[in-house]
Amino acid sequence: MAEILAVGEALERALALLQAGDVVAIPTETVYGLAGDATNGVAVARIFEAKGRPRFNPLIAHVADRAMADRIAGFDPLSAKLAGAFWPGPLTLVLPQRADNGIHPLVTAGLDTIALRMPRGFGGELIARLGRPLAAPSANSSGRISGTTAQAVAADLGDRIKLVVDGGATPVGLESTILKVEDGKLRLLRPGGVSAEEIEAAAGAKLVRGAAGIEAPGMLASHYAPGAAMRLNVQQIVRGEALLAFGRNRAEGWQGAAAMRNLSETGDLREAASNLFAAMQALDRVGAATIAVEPIPFEGLGEAINDRLARAAAPRDKLA
Ligand code: TXA
Ligand code: MG
Repeated sequence: MAEILAVGEALERALALLQAGDVVAIPTETVYGLAGDATNGVAVARIFEAKGRPRFNPLIAHVADRAMADRIAGFDPLSAKLAGAFWPGPLTLVLPQRADNGIHPLVTAGLDTIALRMPRGFGGELIARLGRPLAAPSANSSGRISGTTAQAVAADLGDRIKLVVDGGATPVGLESTILKVEDGKLRLLRPGGVSAEEIEAAAGAKLVRGAAGIEAPGMLASHYAPGAAMRLNVQQIVRGEALLAFGRNRAEGWQGAAAMRNLSETGDLREAASNLFAAMQALDRVGAATIAVEPIPFEGLGEAINDRLARAAAPRDKLA
């Protein structure tokens, strides 16, 4: 089983593993990441192996600062503005790679673009000490719900990795927002921890939604799949369903639910995002055949929450 070490005592051990080409689960402000040296092909292959990813999909490379980012990729003015506004933080930018940047091609699945993000906290410190970027997808088995606590990560991946760094529950609770500037247009590839409204305000431009080019694995229809079936936007609970609630008003028939978790009693979408994955996992453990989900508004982080719920509810045969 993986060792679990608190952030305060994990830095040297994590560094030693990464320098040896091994992988380490680390906390970020969004979700836990399964990190490996992005310049080391063996380390990157170990990430895919530990996750059981069915295909080699491009990963996010995490950097310590803008200087490291600039050595890896070129920034157009709009991307630079957004990095200035949201880094470190839950924003990933897809950018053209520089030649000979040392990034192993397995990180980008051979693409000439790369997804970059500067995380807050322990991850940033670790990358600065390592002096190299870390490739890190969410720390979960392929198709499973992203881990937002060290315990959830250890339960899922603990027999395949040596170390989980425990930074407590991740504050944002869902993955970063992924953006790409294309022909001067700002394209939202994945809704996430920074809302569309915040980005549009900082950029002074409107977002275009939906991927033009490659399909991101986070874009696979069936992703984050719990064992239970998911029923969304329910007004009426069927007896025996598990209930994922939101806000003060309950759906009809809620008294017959096998179990209930409320994402946010007060209807706060930030709080709801931070509770989403842990609540889905907890309801899944109850063993009900179906998790019924109350409606969640689409504004702010509600867009990313609804995106993850739709993927969790998608037919499982779409799981690539
Ligand atoms: O919050 C997060 O972003 C977390 C934490 C650990 O940082 N990471 C994460 O990584 O969610 P992952 O591998 O689960 O998702 C990476 C996403 C995928 O949807 C992938 O397709 C997209 O980034 N991506 C990576 N490189 C890309 C590229 N060159 N062009 C378009 N999309 C890309
Ligand atoms: Mg993921």
